Amino acid sequence: MKLMLMAASLRQDSINKKLIQLSHEVLKKLQVSSEIKQFNDYEQPLYDGDVETSKGLPAGVQQFINDMNDFDGLVFSVPEYNFSMPGTFKNLIDWVSRGRPMPWMGKKILLLSASPAAAGGVRGLWQIRVPFEGCGAFVFPDMFTLANAFSAFDDKGHLTDKNLEDRLEGLLKQFASFSAVKF
Ligand SMILES: Cc1cc2nc3c(=O)[nH]c(=O)nc-3n(C[C@H](O)[C@H](O)[C@H](O)COP(=O)(O)O)c2cc1C
Repeated sequence: MKLMLMAASLRQDSINKKLIQLSHEVLKKLQVSSEIKQFNDYEQPLYDGDVETSKGLPAGVQQFINDMNDFDGLVFSVPEYNFSMPGTFKNLIDWVSRGRPMPWMGKKILLLSASPAAAGGVRGLWQIRVPFEGCGAFVFPDMFTLANAFSAFDDKGHLTDKNLEDRLEGLLKQFASFSAVKF
């Protein structure tokens, strides 16, 4: 059983990348195997039906599909943009959904978000469920959002709020158990 972790941000200093790194450490502690993938490594043009018809799926999108198929569960940490998801991430969801058989079908997905706002990124996460569930993925019912994220990490990358890190650990443990189930 192995989980793929990816932040849906291209920014080097991304707080969502920090949350993914912390999740990787927490999973190590739980003795759950996981691997971080970088969104930056999957080059994707804007979705264009003419490009799809003439050239098929872009190499970066096909690579993403191949990579995610090696895992039992996918953990995405996605920034909230204008109460929704970044267009870059929706573009990936759309491109991937053009693969056959539908690559998202039956995928087990956990959603996280880190945001500098007091509300966290929860409004965006609710919106991400819609395309994923529309594509047949099993989006885990519980989600995790980190509010005030610019000041939420200590210098070792842990959360200064121990209770919050315990909640993240509990959620990752539940999701790992869910991902291990074959159905
Ligand atoms: C176009 C845009 C829209 C944004 N809208 C929101 C928002 O609705 N809610 C929010 O909490 N933060 C919003 N932000 C701030 C992001 O949460 C912030 O830039 C964060 O650092 C992005 O995540 P990253 O550090 O992982 O790249 C927005 C940022 C951008 C660039």
